Amino acid sequence: MSATDLGGQEDIEIDATLNGKPLRRRVKVRQHLADFLRQELELTGTHLGCEHGICGACTVLIDGRTARGCLTLAAQISGKSVETIEGLTESGMLAELQREFIERNAAQCGFCSSGMLLTAHELLLSGEPLSRADIREAMSGNMCRCTGYHAIIDAVEAVMTTRGRR
Ligand code: FES
Ligand code: FES
Repeated sequence: MSATDLGGQEDIEIDATLNGKPLRRRVKVRQHLADFLRQELELTGTHLGCEHGICGACTVLIDGRTARGCLTLAAQISGKSVETIEGLTESGMLAELQREFIERNAAQCGFCSSGMLLTAHELLLSGEPLSRADIREAMSGNMCRCTGYHAIIDAVEAVMTTRGRR
C-alpha cells in the first residue's frame, strides 16, 4: 500500500478493534503498526528488534493470527481486531504461559518475551497434540538472545501438558 494507492493522502482514518475496544484514529499511511502502537498509543510491550520481519519481537495478533508489527502498516488494521501483549495479559489469557515462563526463567531480559508469549498462545489454541520438536519448529520464527530456547520450549510444553494435549 502506498500514499498513491490511497489517493495521495498522507494519513487515513482507521476503524479497528484493539484489545477488545473500538479504535478510531487517523494514522500516517506509511507508519508501521509497531510504531503506531508504541509511539501513538504507548503500548510499548510490542518490541522492535530487527524491523525486518526476522526476530519476532514485534509480534501481535491480527484477527487471532500472529503478525509482524514491523511489516504491517497501521492503515492495514482497519476493519480488523488486534491484540497486543497488554490486552492479552489484562484479560488473563496468557496467565498460565506467563507463570511457566517465570518459573522456568524463560524470560530473562524480556525483550523477546511478548512475541514468544503471543506465538505460544496461538500455538496452544491450535488444539493439535504437538511433540517437543513441533513446538520448537512452531516457535522458530521468534529469536531470543538470552535463554538458549530450552526454557521457553519447556514452558510451552508444560502448559500443553497441563491442558491435556500431550
Ligand atoms: S522487529 Fe519485527 S520481526 Fe523483528
Ligand atoms: S529473554 Fe532476552 S532476548 Fe529472550
